[in-house]
Amino acid sequence: MYSFFLKAHSGLRYLVLALIVIALFSAIIAVFRKKTFSPLHKKIALFSLITSHIQLLLGLGLYFLSPLVALAQMSSTMKTPTLRYWTVEHAFMMVIAIVLVTVGYSRAKKGVTDVAKHKAVILFFGLALLLIVVAILLSTRGLL
Ligand code: HEM
Repeated sequence: MYSFFLKAHSGLRYLVLALIVIALFSAIIAVFRKKTFSPLHKKIALFSLITSHIQLLLGLGLYFLSPLVALAQMSSTMKTPTLRYWTVEHAFMMVIAIVLVTVGYSRAKKGVTDVAKHKAVILFFGLALLLIVVAILLSTRGLL
């Protein structure tokens, strides 16, 4: 069970990262070229939202299965860098990143103008991407 969740969660990271990068760069290009927020832009942002929410569910499952998550003795967990990372830092940073994707998608949907929609994706997806990349690098397991 643990190994299934870990493999699925590890693999889905590529899709989450790829979709956020595609959404971000297509929004940047659209702003420069003064393009509308097309149904394709919306679809890519929506798929980023869906995959990151699936990643959240897998992460929550792993949180209860992983031997590297130790909630029982928090004082010793906080003193052990690996346990602290997986128990506190990874989960916290990733949840914030997923909230940013969610807010970005919602703002893009509600934006009054096409530029406002693209800018919401650029700001919120950009911050989410930064946070995800930093969090994975901090794990020392490698980004890709
Ligand atoms: C965008 C969201 C996320 C991404 C990109 C992500 C990425 C990753 C990566 C790359 C790994 C290492 C997999 C491996 O070494 O094979 C991992 C492991 C893990 N993640 Fe996430 N994660 C995300 C969200 C979350 C969330 C929200 C939680 C918890 C609430 C979580 C909990 C965990 C746990 C417990 C592990 C397993 C550590 C272990 O036992 O080796 N993740 N994640």
